[in-house]
Amino acid sequence: MCGIVGYVGERDAAPIIVESLVRLEYRGYDSAGVATIHEGRLYVEKDAGKLTEGGEPTDLQRRLKSLPGKIGIGHTRWATHGDPTRENAHPHTDCRDRIAVVHNGIIENFSELRQELEERGHRFTSETDTEVVPHLIEEFMSEGKSFFDAFVEAVKRLEGSYAIAAICVDEPDVILAARKESPLVVGLGEDGNFLASDIPAILPETNEVIPVDDGEVVVVKRDEVKILDAETLRDVTDEKEVQVVEEDPHRLERHGYPHFMLKEIHEQPEAVRNTLTIERDRLVEMAEELARGEYRRLYIVACGTSYHAGLGAKYAMEMLARFPVDVVIASEFRYVTRELVDEETLVLAISQSGETADTLAAVREANERGATTIALTNVVGSTITREVDHVMYTHAGFEKAVAATKTYTAQLAAMYTLTVELARRLGELTDKEAEEYHEELDRVPEMLERVLEWEREREVAVLGGRYKERPNWFFIGRGPGYPTAMEGALKLKEITYQHAEAYPAGELKHGPLALIEEGVPVVAVAQRGGVYEKMLANIEEVKARGATVITVAEEGDENVEEHSDHVIRVPRISEVFSPIVYTVPLQLLAYYMSVARGIDPDYPRNLAKSVTVE
Ligand code: G6P
Repeated sequence: MCGIVGYVGERDAAPIIVESLVRLEYRGYDSAGVATIHEGRLYVEKDAGKLTEGGEPTDLQRRLKSLPGKIGIGHTRWATHGDPTRENAHPHTDCRDRIAVVHNGIIENFSELRQELEERGHRFTSETDTEVVPHLIEEFMSEGKSFFDAFVEAVKRLEGSYAIAAICVDEPDVILAARKESPLVVGLGEDGNFLASDIPAILPETNEVIPVDDGEVVVVKRDEVKILDAETLRDVTDEKEVQVVEEDPHRLERHGYPHFMLKEIHEQPEAVRNTLTIERDRLVEMAEELARGEYRRLYIVACGTSYHAGLGAKYAMEMLARFPVDVVIASEFRYVTRELVDEETLVLAISQSGETADTLAAVREANERGATTIALTNVVGSTITREVDHVMYTHAGFEKAVAATKTYTAQLAAMYTLTVELARRLGELTDKEAEEYHEELDRVPEMLERVLEWEREREVAVLGGRYKERPNWFFIGRGPGYPTAMEGALKLKEITYQHAEAYPAGELKHGPLALIEEGVPVVAVAQRGGVYEKMLANIEEVKARGATVITVAEEGDENVEEHSDHVIRVPRISEVFSPIVYTVPLQLLAYYMSVARGIDPDYPRNLAKSVTVE
């Protein structure tokens, strides 16, 4: 999984491409490369490594920016086929260095293609699946085809998923691109045109974009963009809608924060407030849809942090609306649970990016089986929005750090609003009760501001530094505290590389208690409510075995002090909504521990923000 970019216009291409790649690094960052054409010659520069280190440009970035020419393509890589090395970095070229190609996705039939091409004398220099593409184009061109015809023929031979862009010295004013199941947008600029894996990559350059659909081929020139159906070659440009994106590109900067993750943690009050206000009417409509009673079952499908938002939603829907929900990891759903889906099933996919391959596949399975599909996503125009029957948005603004934070609390805010309205419609809440819950949700941004006051944040930062070398962590919770524990453990794993496991506290005695000994850190989520007393007993249980207990509890709760080494305080909130507040100090704990361990929390090893491959 990777990010691709292209530019052709009046300005030097390489600096524009590299700046866009930096904005795409969240999609992968183990190597990068650029190819340009200048005075009839192809220039390629690429290597393993990152484009920025601690916010500063690396030597690789400087090298890539120095390429000459007004046309070029670029790539930031997250290795799938082949190690992160210079050879495997994109762009890849043909035997004669006349064609360069960048690719995001996986070409499933690459071994057969490679064998066939090698038999015809093509020399390969990498272990990647992508390298077959420039050689295929070269092969078709050697039969006398134009660059365009050869590109189209080559694309027809590919199986798998791809967003591909190619340039060729024989036609030095055109970039060709194609898409199947990997994101790709065209950007329309004043002095040139752009291609990119997503909108934020090119947002500072242009806010006029056209999303490319599966099965389309794109011809990008300095003052012209054409989109064609890859099969029939019918020109569909006029049928495509030009989207004008309102996002402020300055939001993509760090604004004095040392990392995007910390900035995004601090943007949570605003992300929640915007979601609660801007999306309210839409969420009410969706609650009506759910309450119509035509559905036999509701599946929430998602991955990673979005899956935890799904779990938070399940507790709320079951506690407030008495509405049964199954939350299924998308990669499991797409192969197993799908068998249970029919016309009476509702599938609600949660995906901040709207591009996660497993979640998209789950939605496609659900559509094929006649289910009604809904998406909750943060990205306008993302692939998922075009695949589902109904779309709901979070309004968290662009999220850059790999570890999701503000999109998580925004997802919860959206799902809680929907739940309150559903409960009202199902008669589980009176109008008055529903209004009280809405008022409480409206106070969440203020509560988050309190959690993020520096005095409190500093206490968490100190804990992160103090326990940074502890290699095994447990996060325990009950009821809605359990998804909080899961999200806390995930954040810790992702960015500190310490092992962390989340457990429903009542389940400790069935195994993990054997691992609790002197000094093992246990983070206990102890919201007030139905399971509070039980939780206190669990805290005692681990403390008695020598654990270092860090408890998250509401202000004024003194019961937790006795058996905790540290207590992190959060404002009072109803138990059912507790994840939206209790998770935030755990994000901070992971963040500060990551920094104390000398890790860049924005770019954790082996992970990427949107996983567009299976
Ligand atoms: C990746 C990211 C996670 C994210 C997950 C699901 O694993 O690193 O932060 O939660 O994908 O992404 P989505 O965009 O579908 O919410």
